[in-house]
Amino acid sequence: GKGEYDHFMLKEINEQPTSLAQAIEGRVDSATERIALSDFEPDTFEDVDSVQFVACGTSYHAALYGSLTLNQAGVQSTALLANEYSVSAPPIDDDTLVIAVTQSGETADTLTALRRADAEGARTLTVTNVVGSTAAREADDALFIRAGPEIGVAATKTFSSQAVMLTLLGQRIAGDLQGEPPADLKSLLPELESMPGRLDDLLASSAAESIAEQYSDSQSYFFIGRGLGFPVALEGALKFKEITYEHAEGFASGELKHGPLALVTPETPVFAIFTGQEDEKTLKNAEEAQTRGAPVIAVCPDGHPAVKAADEHLSIPETEPNLAGLLANVQLQLVSYYAADLLDRPIDKPRNLAKSVTVE
Ligand code: F6R
Repeated sequence: GKGEYDHFMLKEINEQPTSLAQAIEGRVDSATERIALSDFEPDTFEDVDSVQFVACGTSYHAALYGSLTLNQAGVQSTALLANEYSVSAPPIDDDTLVIAVTQSGETADTLTALRRADAEGARTLTVTNVVGSTAAREADDALFIRAGPEIGVAATKTFSSQAVMLTLLGQRIAGDLQGEPPADLKSLLPELESMPGRLDDLLASSAAESIAEQYSDSQSYFFIGRGLGFPVALEGALKFKEITYEHAEGFASGELKHGPLALVTPETPVFAIFTGQEDEKTLKNAEEAQTRGAPVIAVCPDGHPAVKAADEHLSIPETEPNLAGLLANVQLQLVSYYAADLLDRPIDKPRNLAKSVTVE
């Protein structure tokens, strides 16, 4: 049941400290600076020469997140929409690893892409929440995110767990391939172990409800981010449109000036996500929107230069760039939730949507 919460979505947002702790349990060891992904044999990824992620919707945003972390670790990787894969898959050979990211393990588009990859000789892996799902049975390997059942149609806790597991898996793939652990791993592991506590702090002190109240009669909502903030901007916008029925779009911060800026007015709040990757550029992009009258809500740590420049602030604990976006995403989940609640939307079951999409 929903327990003390009005909606499953809010319950599931609040479960994230626990679901993330479950995801990483036994899989990281900051004392020995190792990723103990015992789901896989030692050096199992040493022959992988490129990685293709396939996924849809929120899982695609997690896949893009994972793919960017792999690129940053020096591994060639791309994230593709599963429903585009059959007409535009990049070349595959037997050293290509295709990773299907799917919470349910039953999404038809994603299964079709997985089967195509398999037929063309790729090695396949799925990152999923459901043991015994079709994706888990059909892929060569499966990595389970252990988020527990998600009832709300809008994916929340599963996104965080997918993104974290993909970040870990990426470090493991890079390590196997390069013969030594990636340079970032040493700082990443203790930060990862601190995530559940950081999420508790964020959830206990979020200003999301008052921001939702302030802006819930706007015309459109824009989300911008750079680097790992980009998939979070896309996800922030998807969640917002899905449950509030209001128009929302996510952009790479630097793209704003290449067109979308034409839409910016005082009626279009801009949520700017700062993850510690060229933040000064993102701030400049946000200020360009502000100059056109748009209220800017900075999602960043206290004391960040964006706090002073922006109209509003959603605070995230300090952490490293690989994880900051996940904290920002939780703030954005809360904004969507409270905005949808004010608008009296059926939050757990948005119109026209199903939890698991089993048709192409
Ligand atoms: C959005 C949402 C959908 C799913 C997508 C893929 O909140 O839940 O966009 O992410 O339909 O579903 P899975 O992950 O089950 O393949």
